[in-house]
Amino acid sequence: MKVLVTGGAGFIGSNFVLRAREVRPAWELTVIDAMTYAGNRASLAPVEDEIRFVEGSIADADLVDRLVAENDLVIHFAAESHNDNSLDNPWPFMESNIIGTYRLLEAVRKHDKRIHHISTDEVYGDLELDDPNRFLETTPVNPSSPYSASKASADLLVRAWIRSFGLKATLSNCSNNYGPRQHVEKFIPRQITGILDGVKPKLYGAGANVRDWIHVDDHNDAVIAIVEQGRLGETYLIGADGEQNNRQMIALILELMDKPADWFEHVNDRPGHDLRYAIDSTKLRAETDWRPQYQDIRAGLRQTIDWYAANRAWWETSKAATEQVYARLGR
Ligand code: NAD
Ligand code: TYD
Repeated sequence: MKVLVTGGAGFIGSNFVLRAREVRPAWELTVIDAMTYAGNRASLAPVEDEIRFVEGSIADADLVDRLVAENDLVIHFAAESHNDNSLDNPWPFMESNIIGTYRLLEAVRKHDKRIHHISTDEVYGDLELDDPNRFLETTPVNPSSPYSASKASADLLVRAWIRSFGLKATLSNCSNNYGPRQHVEKFIPRQITGILDGVKPKLYGAGANVRDWIHVDDHNDAVIAIVEQGRLGETYLIGADGEQNNRQMIALILELMDKPADWFEHVNDRPGHDLRYAIDSTKLRAETDWRPQYQDIRAGLRQTIDWYAANRAWWETSKAATEQVYARLGR
């Protein structure tokens, strides 16, 4: 099978490519990536000779048309992915996440191929801390930020192309990922690399916000399971029952990195900051044989910390630029 991976130089996409080389060696992989600030070719170095890499944007209709025509399946990770950036400058999110997805859908429709669209649980808005319900595939979209609104828009386009054109597509909405090769702007790698540099973790507001953490390999294994075992036209929520609030996560990271429990600082909160995300993945578990492998958050964090400690060259150059942006935002 020929598989086009969009955003394959980013965090989840590069981990997907590495994982697919391991567990589906017969797949022929082509990556398209625009190499924004979030793309890192070094993430693909171990498999560079085993894949085809095309630098370009999914918003480029001609390029997308050509690449989709040459492949059987598109796995669509490419996106602007950071909420804080979307609050600072929403436009790239509109172009990559909405227009880019539209270009892919039109090419997949024209050439009668298949697409799996990767999305986030953030499209559903947020939950109260004491809400006994978690997000389901039937939860109405209710996004809060330009990022989540652009992802919800893309999801709606995919659903419309399925219904109106019979597009061969599946969707998945996953909770917050962690693991190796995540950009240092994101919560967990920002704190780990900060501590490695002697800088205290930065907690937005009071830190009561809850995220439902899942290891990136578990996410990617679920994507493979959906592609192979899921039903066309369906949406699947991906989550591993990993709810933790941000204070708890910082406490765990500090403990694992041998720092005192109070060695962190509060910084300005994010405007419109979603309170809680939580996934009910019953449907995915009922329809596929997928089960998360990293159920111990400590073990997953330990592996992630060790990776950042051993791969300073991977993150060091983007660290300073990232912290300059945060300094401007007061976070
Ligand atoms: P990332 O920012 O690390 O990587 C995104 C990649 O897409 C980068 O390599 C970037 O260069 C590329 N890209 C951006 N715009 C592009 C364009 N126009 N054309 C081609 N390539 C482009 O993001 P990530 O965390 O790996 O997220 C990947 C996908 O998973 C996104 O769709 C995101 O919404 C979704 N998702 C992320 C999480 C999470 O916790 N990180 C959770 C659920 C879903
Ligand atoms: P983030 O990794 O940006 O993911 P998302 O906004 O998609 O959930 O942030 C995760 C949580 O951590 C979120 O509640 C914001 C918070 N946060 C901090 O407390 N400090 C930080 O330095 C960052 C980057 C995030």
